[in-house]
Amino acid sequence: STARLTLDPHFQVGAINRRLFGSFVEHLGRCVYDGIYEPGHPTADPEGFREDVIDLVKELGVSAIRYPGGNFVSGFRWEDSVGPRAERPTRLDLAWHSTETNQIGLHEFSSWLEKVGSELMLAVNLGTRGVAEALDLLEYANLGNGTALAEQRIKNGKRDAFGIKMWCLGNEMDGPWQLGHRSADDYGKIASRTAKGMRQLDPSIELVVCGSSSAQMPTFGEWERVVLGHTYDDVDYISCHAYYEEKDGDLGSFLASGVNMDRFIESVVATADHVKAVNGSDKTINISFDEWNVWYIDRFEGVDKITGIDNWPVAPRLLEDAYTVADAVVFGSLLISLLKHADRVTSASLAQLVNVIAPIMTEPNGPAWRQSTFFPFALTSRLATGVTLEVKLEADSYDTAVYGTVPLVDAVATHDATSGATSVFLVNRSQTEDALITIDIAALGSVGIVDVQTLTDADVYAANTLDARDRVGLAANASAAVGTGVVTLTLPPVSWTALALR
Ligand code: AHR
Repeated sequence: STARLTLDPHFQVGAINRRLFGSFVEHLGRCVYDGIYEPGHPTADPEGFREDVIDLVKELGVSAIRYPGGNFVSGFRWEDSVGPRAERPTRLDLAWHSTETNQIGLHEFSSWLEKVGSELMLAVNLGTRGVAEALDLLEYANLGNGTALAEQRIKNGKRDAFGIKMWCLGNEMDGPWQLGHRSADDYGKIASRTAKGMRQLDPSIELVVCGSSSAQMPTFGEWERVVLGHTYDDVDYISCHAYYEEKDGDLGSFLASGVNMDRFIESVVATADHVKAVNGSDKTINISFDEWNVWYIDRFEGVDKITGIDNWPVAPRLLEDAYTVADAVVFGSLLISLLKHADRVTSASLAQLVNVIAPIMTEPNGPAWRQSTFFPFALTSRLATGVTLEVKLEADSYDTAVYGTVPLVDAVATHDATSGATSVFLVNRSQTEDALITIDIAALGSVGIVDVQTLTDADVYAANTLDARDRVGLAANASAAVGTGVVTLTLPPVSWTALALR
């Protein structure tokens, strides 16, 4: 196929917020215990954090990290996880049918965040708890001193307030699986009351209200309208969550998952703007796409799920998907979708970070390695700075069973006026044909190619695993060439590419 796009620094969509490259650490499976934290590991630092994992998280380039859940947070008592470790209670985690030892909590996680250089995005429990407990946590975290809760934090080893800016008002409250699941009306009311109280305590915080767990939820659209109807003046963001997987061998539809993400974002923007119009408000609500990834949920439901009244393991192997090249290509296209909407998606969290549907895997007492999805994230996070440009893409199309007729190629570009760097991210969804790309760069003036990296493989199901940790990765794409006012390059079938110009 062929595709053509135009780069012009005047065609600006919006500034790229660094929070778009966030991630998510949940107390789930081996994400925290036996993932980021493994005191006996040869690379463990004095606090028990694996330094090989810290190095990979830094290389990945993640900004804010959402914590501590996820479904986990809807049954979590934050008080359990602070104070002397020997006194912390062991609790059931009903979300993942596991045992939570509470050996890692706010203090330890915040110390780990300092090591990786990321910001904390903290979720409060609006499943089994409410306004009072959210206020207690905020006071404990953000008040300098002088009250029982602030002094308790100081006694627990943290003199200065944590100063946490981003707060999530619960998690996926639209999902019937969620502890304390509520109707949109009930949730909207408690979210509004909680948000108002939290702002009374600390007006500087930014608040995320729960949107839909996916665009396929039966309440999708109406949920956002009702929830924002209650909370429009109280919050800054509404969340979106989306996971994609190849189903029934339909790779063609799976490769087009970004089309679904585009429509999802645009529908939520339309709904938020509808509430804005009804309210006569001049405030704009943006999106925190705070869970997104490829996830083989069907595999989890069928194989991994833990049951039994006497069976509550600590840090079991859960949701340890091994990502293929095809998964990474879809993953890269999801990043393209997020960037295309940088004007309204101003925060996002890759779900998750280590071992659990993660770009980074570890083996207890063994190595840590990069999954296929690590590469598009790291490169996009590094190259996508400045503003998103609209690229006026003209591409051939193909038919999919799930999303109808969709473009074979998707692309987005970013431009950084300060450094003069321009980057283009592209995906070829064809399973059989190269895509011949022509990029009009006349409006950029005199620029050259700095680098072109492509992720592809003759075996689209190849993956990096414990026994073959470097099986897949990026390779320089030698096809790229600069002509008069144009760059041409070839994208192999099922591939993701990043092109850096300056
Ligand atoms: O990321 C795994 C789970 O997916 C999260 O706990 C939940 O919020 C979502 O359903």
